[in-house]
Amino acid sequence: MKAQSLVSRFCSNPTTPSIPNTKKSFFQAPTPPSSAYFSQSRKWVSFKIQHSAPQRVWYNKQNGVEEVKDGTSHGNDLENGVRRKKLAVFVSGGGSNFKSIHEASLGGSVHGDIVVLVTNKRGCGGSVYARDNGIPVVLFPKTKDKPDGLAPNDLVAELRKFEVDFVLLAGYLKLIPVELIRAYPRSILNIHPSLLPAFGGKGYYGMKVHKAVIASGARFSGPTIHFVDEHYDTGRILAQSVVPVLAKDTAEELAARVLQEEHRLYVEVTTALCEERIIWREDGVPLIQSKENPSEYR
Ligand code: GRF
Repeated sequence: MKAQSLVSRFCSNPTTPSIPNTKKSFFQAPTPPSSAYFSQSRKWVSFKIQHSAPQRVWYNKQNGVEEVKDGTSHGNDLENGVRRKKLAVFVSGGGSNFKSIHEASLGGSVHGDIVVLVTNKRGCGGSVYARDNGIPVVLFPKTKDKPDGLAPNDLVAELRKFEVDFVLLAGYLKLIPVELIRAYPRSILNIHPSLLPAFGGKGYYGMKVHKAVIASGARFSGPTIHFVDEHYDTGRILAQSVVPVLAKDTAEELAARVLQEEHRLYVEVTTALCEERIIWREDGVPLIQSKENPSEYR
């Protein structure tokens, strides 16, 4: 099947490359010459490189944006021409994953910048960290208690204003509205603290996940990073990492072990995302292309 037909069948985002699901191409995909990778070929799809203008951010308290400053940071492209990405992170709690991705961005290992934090709790640890670090905070959703929160379409418009490329859910406890999912196809990731599809779905969050893992007798657990669809924890799995469940573990001990691995895995995945190394297999499964050896996937 030619690349163009693969794209039209599986890629709603025309910048996303796709590979067929044959054993040969899965394990030994053709290694395109580095220059050809970014140009048209039969099997590989060109990336459209967009050079966006330096981002200007504004102050606007009425529409749910609490605090806004100039969010511009590194504007450089990678050697292969890949544009630096703009990320929105969604948080409801402490925000330790958000912090580790932000630190990786500042440290240079993630080729992208967190340009906005979205939260349903203005006082949560993640919101405080964002304000302390000059990252604009957007309140979502709008509720009776939070009339200054954004409605779904306004949230999409806000993310567009920030020129967001990818959305990273990191402990955001509200369901993502369909308006956002349609506006950002194959561009929204979530991290869940168990090996999905086990111990996922509505009601499986926080310590409940780890208690259920321990009660089940499972000997392994670990984080899953998946694309987001319209339901809880059912989108395509992109990456997983395994940690042991020890005989005497409490839920808190297991949670701490998994969380440590979450930080590592989310940074690794965000790095690949920003470097455009997510490849969609013909059957719709997303894979991460190795940076060192582009013919290898995980
Ligand atoms: C993590 O365990 C993540 O898997 C889940 O929510 C938790 C968020 O933790 N979705 P933190 O706010 O990043 O510390």
